[in-house]
Amino acid sequence: MNTRRIRQRVPAFEVTEGAGVTVHRSIGTPALKNLDPFLLLDHFGSDNPDEYIAGFPEHPHRGFITFTYMLDGHMEHRDSMGNRGDLKAGGAQWMKAASGVIHSEMPQQTNGLMRGFQLWINLPAREKLSDPLYQEFSAAAIPEVALAQGRVRVLAGKFGEARGVIDDPATDVLYLDVSLDADARFSHPVAETHNAFVYVFEGSARVAGEALATHHLAVLGAGDTVEIAAGEAGARFILVAGRPLGEPVVQYGPFVMNSREEIEQAFADYRDGRLVRAKAAMKGH
Ligand code: CO
Repeated sequence: MNTRRIRQRVPAFEVTEGAGVTVHRSIGTPALKNLDPFLLLDHFGSDNPDEYIAGFPEHPHRGFITFTYMLDGHMEHRDSMGNRGDLKAGGAQWMKAASGVIHSEMPQQTNGLMRGFQLWINLPAREKLSDPLYQEFSAAAIPEVALAQGRVRVLAGKFGEARGVIDDPATDVLYLDVSLDADARFSHPVAETHNAFVYVFEGSARVAGEALATHHLAVLGAGDTVEIAAGEAGARFILVAGRPLGEPVVQYGPFVMNSREEIEQAFADYRDGRLVRAKAAMKGH
């Protein structure tokens, strides 16, 4: 067994997204441009409607996947092809934008807590212009495993016998939401080939014995096992890992391709109303 240590600590910082929503961004910042295959991690969390009510009006995506995990609150997703989705507390949406989706993500509440994550996962070159696909799951569909001192929600990948609901052959993503009681310990194997990170959003944790505070992301170094202990107030964190693609990343805003020419093509297609080529299929429950 070879325990993964912290290779880099990245404090999330506040940025304004959409029509004026405050998010904590960690991946996709100058300190951590990306972590192959992950392109961006935003944590939104506020009980102040002024910070979320404007939502994310219509905007395009091409060349990657957006994965939204709602912890609290209610958001509605609509796209230019007439698909509609409801994201409620504990539910998740895996949107393979691929060749192109134009959508909006708007709050369906005027007060109360709105909290969750959006992770962008890159697609391999061969799939960047494939047909879009939504995988959407309610809280009840996501497996939850009780621990002696906590619990794990399995969104993607495997935890013991539990298998996540998301189907992701390209990058084999592991995505766990882990809650630990005070001083509880957690250990999980993570493929040596995969890049991995931990993001703490409640309490504090120790990763391989090293402290990690709330709203901090730890990029994990080489190894085959992750070992985390909760601080004295407990901890809640996401543990995410994925197989790196090792391909060139050329990103411009909502378009992530392999070359500048492909980015220019995406802009031209968007301008000329040709970004959306195929209606996204919907999968989930
Ligand atoms: Co979007």
